[in-house]
Amino acid sequence: MDTRRGRWTVVLGYRSVRISNFMVFHISHLAIVDSTNTYLKSLVDAPEGTCVSADEQTAGRGRQNRNWHSAPGEGLYLSILLRPPRGRTDLPLLSLTAAIAVAETFLAIGLEKIDLKWPNDLLCSERKICGILVETAGLNQGGSPRVIVGIGVNLNQRAFPPPLDTTATSLLIESGAAMGAATFRDLLLERFSEWYDCWREEGREQILTRWTALSSYATGREVSVKLESESLTGITEGLNRDGALLVRTVDGDLRTIIAGEVSRLRPVNCAPKKEA
Ligand code: BTN
Repeated sequence: MDTRRGRWTVVLGYRSVRISNFMVFHISHLAIVDSTNTYLKSLVDAPEGTCVSADEQTAGRGRQNRNWHSAPGEGLYLSILLRPPRGRTDLPLLSLTAAIAVAETFLAIGLEKIDLKWPNDLLCSERKICGILVETAGLNQGGSPRVIVGIGVNLNQRAFPPPLDTTATSLLIESGAAMGAATFRDLLLERFSEWYDCWREEGREQILTRWTALSSYATGREVSVKLESESLTGITEGLNRDGALLVRTVDGDLRTIIAGEVSRLRPVNCAPKKEA
């Protein structure tokens, strides 16, 4: 048992699983932790493939400094450590890759209505069912940089507290079926390993094509985008080769969105294509 942080790090389970030829996952499951991303970041010497999941997070973190609702036993709270080769500049594609892996996991268990919202939100019935927080560490130090992919999946919530009650959904709400977080995690890691392999092998086109096929936001969608210092509205025109979102504004400018919060302006009237 790891007791470095007292009651936060009671490791309930540990196992090593080889999922593909190059990827071994070292999975620890904790009862309770502040944030699996924060915890994994503190393990500076951990090897690639180290995963931490938890029954509950007390300070789950989302993008743009938001909290991630992490009630005990209701969701999957998972962080995966990657050590991509130094010098790879296409890290933004990794976050699309993670979203594809989660979407394919949902499709594999029969939840068809999954949609991707740039860059890596998963929606179902236009409500959020999964969020992904990708963080880096050690980019300016010697050794391989670390990328921590944090994934929060809403599985067994019957309802959400305000204000999430109008924006979030779960597998149980959408399908009527509950699923254990460990079961979903293991299916997800298989998909993740395949797509990470694709990224390592520089399968840029494959990643962009698959993400686009899974997203109703990729093209022809009227959106508003909140950037750091301005907001804009326009119609989406796909992804560029780095995975940035292209938006044509009313003035006719084609804007390249590298970071920002995208929201729909009109309801979806076409479902994303799901075929491979
Ligand atoms: C988002 O804002 O959409 C991203 C949410 C990411 C939540 C996950 S839960 C596991 C991992 N640990 C965290 O503190 N955050 C991520």
